[in-house]
Amino acid sequence: MSTLPSLKMASALGIFLLVILVHTEASSSSGKGGKSFPHDMTLQSDLTKLYNSPVYKVDRMRQPIGGLSFALGILSHSGVRATLANGSQWLIHKGDGFGRSSQTVVVNAKHMSSDWKIIETKDFRGTKTIGDFVKAGGTDYNVIFDNCHFGSRRMMDQKKK
Ligand SMILES: *[C@@H]1O[C@H](CO)[C@@H](O)[C@H](O)[C@H]1NC(C)=O
Repeated sequence: MSTLPSLKMASALGIFLLVILVHTEASSSSGKGGKSFPHDMTLQSDLTKLYNSPVYKVDRMRQPIGGLSFALGILSHSGVRATLANGSQWLIHKGDGFGRSSQTVVVNAKHMSSDWKIIETKDFRGTKTIGDFVKAGGTDYNVIFDNCHFGSRRMMDQKKK
């Protein structure tokens, strides 16, 4: 690669180099101690394959924060759960300090706790990839102007081809 054709290309590269960090929130109920890697992947090639995978059914989901029984505004957390052709499901969400090169991360949805509730469902019919969703979620986080809700809204609002 001699030159970087565009900023778009540069950010796409950034997404592929993204290191997904352990996200403890989703697995806090197990009580087993010891952390697992929610994406369950150690090989870069598996991660690249995941990012290139077409997305079908997508649920926008909300989780109450801090044990509150209602989910409202910034007192809740939101993200999208994407289903791939092979039936596996992945939670894509953003938060302050979630990731390294991007604050939008992908975790295996089987680690989600039961307090996540579906608020909207769309069928993307394979027109977008996991990588497109991460890109739409955005690399930067701002608690007021670009929080998890902005990220999940942008992911849902992606235009199908
Ligand atoms: C489904 O495809 C993804 C992306 O390649 C892969 O990571 C995952 O392991 C697959 N799951 C199953 C159940 O085959």
